[in-house]
Amino acid sequence: MKSEVGTSQCRKQSLIEDARKEKEISEVTTSDPPDDTFDHPDEGSSTLYLIFTVSNTSVSPFSTSLKTFEKHGAIIYHIETRPAGQCKMKGEELECFVKCFIHNSSTCSLLSSLKKIAGNVKVIKDLSAPSFPRKVQDLDMCQHLSMKFEPDFDKDHPGFGDQEYKKRRGYFAELAFKYKYGNVIPRVEYTSEEIATWKQVYKSLSSLYPNYACEQYLETFQQLEKYCGYTENSIPQLQDVSNFLKERTGFILRPAAGLLSARDFLACLAFRVFPSTQYIRHPSAAMHSPEPDCCHELLGHIPMLADKEFAQFSQDIGLASLGASDEDIEKLSTLYWFTIEFGLCKQNGSIKAYGAGLLSSYGELMYALSNTPALKNFDPELTAVHPYQDNSYQPVYFISESFEDSTVKLRQYALKMKKPFCLRYDPFTCSVEILDTFQKVRTALCEINEELKNLCSALDKIC
Ligand SMILES: [Fe+2]
Repeated sequence: MKSEVGTSQCRKQSLIEDARKEKEISEVTTSDPPDDTFDHPDEGSSTLYLIFTVSNTSVSPFSTSLKTFEKHGAIIYHIETRPAGQCKMKGEELECFVKCFIHNSSTCSLLSSLKKIAGNVKVIKDLSAPSFPRKVQDLDMCQHLSMKFEPDFDKDHPGFGDQEYKKRRGYFAELAFKYKYGNVIPRVEYTSEEIATWKQVYKSLSSLYPNYACEQYLETFQQLEKYCGYTENSIPQLQDVSNFLKERTGFILRPAAGLLSARDFLACLAFRVFPSTQYIRHPSAAMHSPEPDCCHELLGHIPMLADKEFAQFSQDIGLASLGASDEDIEKLSTLYWFTIEFGLCKQNGSIKAYGAGLLSSYGELMYALSNTPALKNFDPELTAVHPYQDNSYQPVYFISESFEDSTVKLRQYALKMKKPFCLRYDPFTCSVEILDTFQKVRTALCEINEELKNLCSALDKIC
């Protein structure tokens, strides 16, 4: 069911589909046993990963450390060494990485013995967890694209045979690939044809917002018109929009060359970074784009990212994705799909839209709030595994009681995910810390305790 001017604008840009493919690739590549697979002789044994340093001035400490493994019945099946630390004189100390197999009852005594002859002994808890960015600068490495819906590769793309359009897209892709965290996002001089496309989309969608968009969206949209150059006659610049968001919720934009992989996209959200395309859809299909473009980002996503509760919800999905298994990335992508892209919410006794896929699609916005589709309450356990529709409008949409309520439910859901560690986001350094020692947890609790004292003091003064 599609309207002539309102086909679902970004139906193919599904993170879920991408996540599913990643999972399939992972399943295929892990179906063959890796070369270093060992048969565990009994249930009480496990693989241990260790890092430690030993003196390199004589051979004794190194060989003694290896004998310590042997003494405790550990089987070493991988070892690497390198000079330790940049500030050390070359050759003074060696840093050793050891992968070994050991009975659980011997682990403590091995570590204790090793600490007597080696320095900086650290256990790496689980190397099987996918690696992930630890700080916002690391997002420069998270730019893996899903290229299949681009005009160069998708025969159904409206710009497939248009060399001029593809050349223009190459220009935007170069801007995105050159961008590094901290750079100013380059300003773009849009052509009159591009502005005409924007105008058509802007006029048709903004006529619907007063009746269909949630109040948070409407409030921010007015501010964007006032402060950020949102008009039908010009396409807002990403840097201006990023500055606007930074002031309100701490979110910033970074230019994206296209649709990012699910894992990379969700990782950006963890650091309050939203990857935004800067190009615009092909002029022959102003009301439909098979991939995200600046109409979708600027009209669908940006207004909601200026709301504090919605921003927190978005970041929480991102944080849950860091180090998650491929299976969980698929579920989180599905949650993302039914909330941030196609979510509805209750407001003053009626249902309104907050999802970017709805607020940037004339036809689906009206359809979602008609009596046709089924509506269900947002429940992460059910929503995360609910089938989605990628060829037409959704038969089912999920309703949030409020963003605060959805965030609480999402956090409960994330706590149940099987991850070998807990993370804490540090807003001052825009980095995540793995809470894997008592000291780290104690420090975090002390900080929270101080904040609680401050809030209690504020309550006393109010009362
Ligand atoms: Fe989107």
